[in-house]
Amino acid sequence: MARRALITGITGQDGSYLAEHLLDQGYEVWGLARGQANPRVSRIRKLLADVRLVRGDLLDQGSLISAVERVQPDEVYNLGAISFVPMSWEQAELTAEVTGMGVLRVLEAIRVCSGVSRGGRPSGGQIRFYQASSSEMFGQVSETPQNESTGFHPRSPYGVAKAYGHFLTQNYRESYGMFAVSGILFNHESPRRGAEFVTRKVSLGVARIKLGLAGELRLGNLEARRDWGFAGDYVRAMHLMLQAGKPEDYVIGTGRMKSVRELAQAAFAAAGLDWERYVVTDQALHRPAEVDLLCADPKKARVQLGWEPTVSFDELVAMMVESDLRLLTDGGDPDQESSWP
Ligand code: NAP
Ligand code: GDD
Repeated sequence: MARRALITGITGQDGSYLAEHLLDQGYEVWGLARGQANPRVSRIRKLLADVRLVRGDLLDQGSLISAVERVQPDEVYNLGAISFVPMSWEQAELTAEVTGMGVLRVLEAIRVCSGVSRGGRPSGGQIRFYQASSSEMFGQVSETPQNESTGFHPRSPYGVAKAYGHFLTQNYRESYGMFAVSGILFNHESPRRGAEFVTRKVSLGVARIKLGLAGELRLGNLEARRDWGFAGDYVRAMHLMLQAGKPEDYVIGTGRMKSVRELAQAAFAAAGLDWERYVVTDQALHRPAEVDLLCADPKKARVQLGWEPTVSFDELVAMMVESDLRLLTDGGDPDQESSWP
């Protein structure tokens, strides 16, 4: 029988790549979809016709219990979140509810549906759980590069909510013997990245300028440094973590960092443009508290899972710029369902 996976956040960047990867591995894939007429649901239906959808919301405990009961999954991947860091200052309580408490609700749904009790082992087949933890938890970093033992100093309500979900996942593993793991993933991008994140904002901006649709690109802090990889590589790591012999947490990243300035340089150069002619800095885009740098030490994942990234920073930037040039040349709208390559 095919293994069955349930993915929250199916309409997001990672949800789509993970669903593709699991379908390729022969899984029956279910996605949790929220809302009455969510336009992103039709985008995922079009891209991934083989994914089955079940209605539910991370804010609604009952809906998660019903979803787990209905799907009877072997593996649950909790990717759903409010994931845009600046939004977490504007809607801090909602971020805590979705990105933080949402983890508790998914873990409780699994615990209840598989009959796990305190100090005991599950009575039925064990459902394996993956939590999408984040390098944002490291925040103001205490050492570089960051590994699984590096302490947390989150700098945003989003980072704080992720730290809650991370510790809770560890706690359910320790309290109930659940196979529950966190992947501490560093920034990962793709042509399916939301237009609000800096890599996609830059690739779309470059494409618009190249095609004469815009004259400038406004950015915030150019000095921030991130460890950027390709999302398609990172979803492989999620799956590998749930196939391991023991439940453990892993850092996933490339081990190389670049600044936003270098990102802009590379992206404009990929289109044959000089970034300094078009990039305008805007104080309004700076954050109340910034994470200055993030750089992964992915050694544990390499040694224990055999995981390695396959796409370099320059290849990733070129892939995104080319994709957005194609999209806009064909008259596509980055916000519309047909826009995902
Ligand atoms: P994304 O594109 O922003 O997708 C977020 C997903 O969460 C969407 O499918 C969204 O669905 C869903 N969601 C939002 N509120 C929900 C709710 N109340 N109930 C159920 N689903 C809800 O994010 P991503 O880049 O794919 O990231 C996936 C996960 O990894 C997130 O948890 C993110 O925080 C984490 N992460 C991402 C990165 C990265 O660099 N991409 C790095 C580390 C960790 P709707 O269509 O319903 O809005
Ligand atoms: N979004 C954005 N827009 N960021 C900008 C801009 C701009 O105009 N100008 C500079 N930046 C800087 C931000 O200040 C930040 O330091 C960096 O670019 C990256 O910003 P984002 O792409 O928005 O990502 P993030 O690092 O805040 O968060 C992403 O990665 C986390 C993992 O480290 C998200 O995907 C999170 O969900 C994820 O957990």
